Amino acid sequence: PRVAVLFGGRSGEHAISAATAAGVLRAIDRSRYDVVPVGITREGRWVVAADEPERWEITDGRLPEVTAESGAEVVLSLTAGERTLRVLEPGQVPGLLGEVDVVFPVLHGPFGEDGTVQGLLELADVHYVGAGVLASAVGMDKHFMKLVLAGQGLPVGPYTVIRPGEWDTRREACTAAVEALGLPVFVKPARAGSSLGITRVDDLADLPAAVEEARRHDPKVIVEQGIEGREIECAVLGGRHGGPARASLPGEIVVDHGSHVFYDFEAKYLDESHVDLRCPADLPDHLVEEVRELAVRTFDAVGAEGLSRVDVFVTPDERVVVNEINTMPGFTPLSMYPRMWAASGLSYPELVDELVQLALE
Ligand code: DAL
Ligand code: MG
Repeated sequence: PRVAVLFGGRSGEHAISAATAAGVLRAIDRSRYDVVPVGITREGRWVVAADEPERWEITDGRLPEVTAESGAEVVLSLTAGERTLRVLEPGQVPGLLGEVDVVFPVLHGPFGEDGTVQGLLELADVHYVGAGVLASAVGMDKHFMKLVLAGQGLPVGPYTVIRPGEWDTRREACTAAVEALGLPVFVKPARAGSSLGITRVDDLADLPAAVEEARRHDPKVIVEQGIEGREIECAVLGGRHGGPARASLPGEIVVDHGSHVFYDFEAKYLDESHVDLRCPADLPDHLVEEVRELAVRTFDAVGAEGLSRVDVFVTPDERVVVNEINTMPGFTPLSMYPRMWAASGLSYPELVDELVQLALE
């Protein structure tokens, strides 16, 4: 089969997407799959990208970027019913890059992980890796995510939402709602990822700056009560042939709080020396099982498919609270998602193969 690997894109997580794509390009079994790398520039231009993993990695703190110069622009031809996506290079023989059988949208954040690209692929009736339109959209929007999870009885933390415009017209009421949560709080863009635009607020005087920072990424802001607890993650893979979704062994993020206030963008991708990713997490068996079960219930609650990473808190009194689901988690070979699978017996190349096979079902 021919696989188009889509990466980069219009979101703030452009570079992380490229880094994940590097891992996929490196690991995908070339004897089984024909690979067509397609980069999307920050402006939304689709280009034929170099099939060179090292070009798209994060090296020495340098973030990779797809630019218009990365390759020739592609033209997409979408025809429903044929289950193909034609990727054409203008001015060249149509079909030069061929018809692809499955698209792997290795895209994080808005315009990639939020249902928009998934909608395009549905229009084309082409197979693709990962969650569909609704699950992607729900997973991207931390407000609707919590409503969907809480509505199905899953434990989520207390929060308040500052809707677009509200901060300018009802600031006192918004501030009172935040105060009622108790400090500290985490102020986040409702739709973003990789901790972009997130600020921990310990003093209400710092709230306006935090809201402004979040609004740089999204006009809708969510403020979450800071939950005291261990940061535990669990990787989920969709079930084969309609079977139940599968959960990995959980992992744990341990951040050196002397260096990073929380697990922020820099700690995630640029200065990993102060973060310890423990995999598997050292948890008692009953909590391991509870986390895994909750991860699968979260995956099912949003209607996810293919893959997701579910992030939870385990509190000192052993409550497990869902922080969020990521329907296209980062998975450079060093990321938690593949590491949790490796600790559970599935190697990175096997994982990539499994994801493509799930999409082709
Ligand atoms: N949004 C980042 C890529 C993650 O969830 O891993
Ligand atoms: Mg996220």
